[in-house]
Amino acid sequence: GRPGQVLVASNRGPVSFSLGADGSLTAKRGGGGLVSGLSTLTPGTGTWVCAALGEGDRAAVARSGARLDPADTGGQAVRMLDIPDGTFDAAYNGIANSVLWFVHHLLYQTPFEPVFDAAFEAQWADYETYNAAFAEALAAEAAPGAAVLVQDYHLSLVPALLRDRRPDLRIGHFTHTPWAPPDLFRVLPDAVARRLLLGILGADRAAFHTPRWARAFADCCADLLGARIDGQDIHHEGRITRLGVHGLGADAEFLRERASRPDVDERLAALRAQVGDARTIVRVDRTELSKNIVRGLFAFRRLLTDRPQWRGQVTHVAFAYPSRQDLAVYRDYTAEVSRVAEEINAAFATDGWTPVVLHVKDDFARSLAAYRMADVALVNPIKDGMNLVAKEIPVVSERGCALVLSTEAGAAAELGEDALLVNPYDIAGTAEALHLALSMDADERDRRTKRLSAAATALPPQTWFLEQLAALDPA
Ligand code: G6P
Repeated sequence: GRPGQVLVASNRGPVSFSLGADGSLTAKRGGGGLVSGLSTLTPGTGTWVCAALGEGDRAAVARSGARLDPADTGGQAVRMLDIPDGTFDAAYNGIANSVLWFVHHLLYQTPFEPVFDAAFEAQWADYETYNAAFAEALAAEAAPGAAVLVQDYHLSLVPALLRDRRPDLRIGHFTHTPWAPPDLFRVLPDAVARRLLLGILGADRAAFHTPRWARAFADCCADLLGARIDGQDIHHEGRITRLGVHGLGADAEFLRERASRPDVDERLAALRAQVGDARTIVRVDRTELSKNIVRGLFAFRRLLTDRPQWRGQVTHVAFAYPSRQDLAVYRDYTAEVSRVAEEINAAFATDGWTPVVLHVKDDFARSLAAYRMADVALVNPIKDGMNLVAKEIPVVSERGCALVLSTEAGAAAELGEDALLVNPYDIAGTAEALHLALSMDADERDRRTKRLSAAATALPPQTWFLEQLAALDPA
């Protein structure tokens, strides 16, 4: 691709700040594939535009202005938008995480019972304001002809708003979540649904992790807007938006190096001491309703009930890191995960064996230690855009691990042949897959782990990022 300025826009940026009691600020690097994928951006060539997420971030912006001090960002140029508290809260907690997240993940019945009333309308107005703030900042920041990569469901309206202001820019949008098929997407009020689709169609390219989500988006455009779909091209009102599929892969080099450091060794020794000789079924998630952690625990309980030979022989190591705790449904879910884990331990624990080892405090080094010791990885989301944990565990596991994977995770498109696929709602089926995974002979496990690992790293973050940039170049 030709060199030029690149802007990235996402709600969560590459750095966040915490505010000490003495008013001091500590910068913490953001985690996840998105951050490492986008770290290709260097100060000379690009800027990352993101939102201030909390009081620490706001204090940092008050101190340095929206352009953060490069000393805090590892040299990355970051423009952090201090969106007014109420607007941010309505856009992020209200619309993005309480409506759009639930629609795209099919989290449909309790706790999300769609009622779109005056409260929703007010939040929607804030979502518009928040998107406009990003479009404004990007329009001000962008050099002529710059490439802008807009990320995710928080910023669905940005491509169209930005194109209105700056028709010279090349704009890409990437959705990291699943996309709901038309019958389900139409639960949104028509004007809102159309606005979301038209927002993304303002981009030159609309990209997703798998063909399935790209197809669902195109179907929504055809169904709700009357757009014409021609192969990968969506024709609407005289413009063409091209669909893209880029399945984000695991960063093998980074993971293997990070997983071999002493802090991970220490945590591995501690976990080993805790589980003894038992085999492990490992899962690591945000405590997120779509991750389906509770049904995973039910499946483990079912395994112990139906296949008593595993009692005392296998420990479920489950890390569930608090997420979106401003929302009551997430707090309740976090509590439910702990309650069910305790119930299982109360019912089955013996002197030398704790069936479920649950940790809820975020610790990346400990996650990597669990990856290293995994005999079985359990990844059973109700729906997931990709799910990087499914890709990371086979890369890091030391003994080779069998992967029990939901058909509804984007990762199943690439890993489906060597994983044991499960219907995430089916407790008995998931329990049976856990049994098969634990029973798999060593050779077969090795063979599968090698293939899983190869598929998982086919498109590492940097390549994932560069591929999207190249695709934005005019032919
Ligand atoms: C999903 C979304 C990301 C988001 C992440 C964590 O993977 O696609 O955009 O950053 O969840 O959620 P949070 O609300 O903590 O940013």
